[in-house]
Amino acid sequence: MVEKIKIALLNLSSAIQAGKIYSKDHPSFQEFIIRAFKALHEVLPRKKELVIGIVEDELAWEGEIFFSLSQKLNALVQYLQEKNIERIVFLPDLTEEELSSFVMFLIDREKKGAADAPEYLTALGVRNIRAGKIRALATQHEVAEDASTAKKKRKNKTVRNVSRVIENVLNEDDVDYLELKFNVLNYMEDYLGRRQEMVDLVSIKKKDLTTFLHLLNVSIICMFISSKLGYSQEDVLDLGIAGLFHDIGKLTISRRILKKSTKLKEDEFYKMKHHTTRGAEILVKYMDAVGKLPVVVAYEHHLRHDMKGYPRLTHPRKPHTASMIVSMCDVYDALAQKRSYKKDFPPKKIYDIMMDGKGTSFEPELLESFYRVLGVWPIGTIVSLSNKRIAIVRKTNEKDIFNPVVEVIHPKKSREVIDLSEETTKLRVTRSLNPFKEGKKYLELIESQV
Ligand SMILES: [Fe+2]
Ligand SMILES: [Fe+2]
Repeated sequence: MVEKIKIALLNLSSAIQAGKIYSKDHPSFQEFIIRAFKALHEVLPRKKELVIGIVEDELAWEGEIFFSLSQKLNALVQYLQEKNIERIVFLPDLTEEELSSFVMFLIDREKKGAADAPEYLTALGVRNIRAGKIRALATQHEVAEDASTAKKKRKNKTVRNVSRVIENVLNEDDVDYLELKFNVLNYMEDYLGRRQEMVDLVSIKKKDLTTFLHLLNVSIICMFISSKLGYSQEDVLDLGIAGLFHDIGKLTISRRILKKSTKLKEDEFYKMKHHTTRGAEILVKYMDAVGKLPVVVAYEHHLRHDMKGYPRLTHPRKPHTASMIVSMCDVYDALAQKRSYKKDFPPKKIYDIMMDGKGTSFEPELLESFYRVLGVWPIGTIVSLSNKRIAIVRKTNEKDIFNPVVEVIHPKKSREVIDLSEETTKLRVTRSLNPFKEGKKYLELIESQV
């Protein structure tokens, strides 16, 4: 019996990933639901009810805690915790539809948590699954507290999981593509414009942390840009994954070269450039799991619109659109970050530098689109306004990329939201505050508002 329960839970966890990535009509979602249902259906007639609980971060059934499945059940645990659910009860008359509705309820971030779960589930027509807390919560405040702790935990786990996948690829270990997509999708939602929060989460052994963070960030920017440009969720994820692996070849270069602050010698420069072909070689082995795009992008992301760049091609050609998108996100992030050989540039300076490359490094229309959706001051940037107040960028204005919608965070009381593109405001962004330096003290104020 315990084996059947394990199968049911594993498939429910995969159904959450598939439901999140695709939709409830996608065949892989339905297949996981069918498998989970079958397994439960074999167990349920023998039981009056089947009670699954969460003990710490693990799922448990009748005193057995499924530690060994911990990693694989991650998605299910995360979403139960975020909904504040500590216990699920399956009843014998359970139907496949009910199981599917329950999973969709878990995925839906708009819907509330355990306190309201019974009503929601009844409204969805789910009568044979009960979900809730083990003990009744005293106050709404506690519900909110629990949900935010769970969210924080999930966010941390997401970054760690993605870092682990990069290590797996470097070690030539297996990669679970569904899980990877799921985590990539989650971190785009969680970390857009919040790079500074990822710094402490990425734990890597003997590898270059800067490159790791760069990979995660390029992936996030790629997904943000492509989703804003109207790409399908599937394409957005593919670009996110291609962005995530674009510099994987660099992780095989010695840190001495990567961190060198003086000019590289010819052989060192050669090794550095070789990260494109090296990356493609590594990723070719994962084509079955991650597809062709990461290979193409790893190979092409330093090729330019004017067909210069590297690796040198015998028959020069324009790079794939995905490579051109990754290339812009790549340069953008590289300029924004501090490296051993350069300081970190503020957003306006990056804009000027990138615009210098319009028509040479970058395809002109693509670059315009990039800035139209990202804005000169991207979402999450801490800025100083012309009236000396400190604000955070909340929304960009596609028609006026220099003047976003900001929320004043200092002085504390105001919290005013201002659309700088409105002529009446006359306020302007004068400069941005570096979140690692002078902007650091404002990070807490931003967090409390989200
Ligand atoms: Fe690169
Ligand atoms: Fe890069």
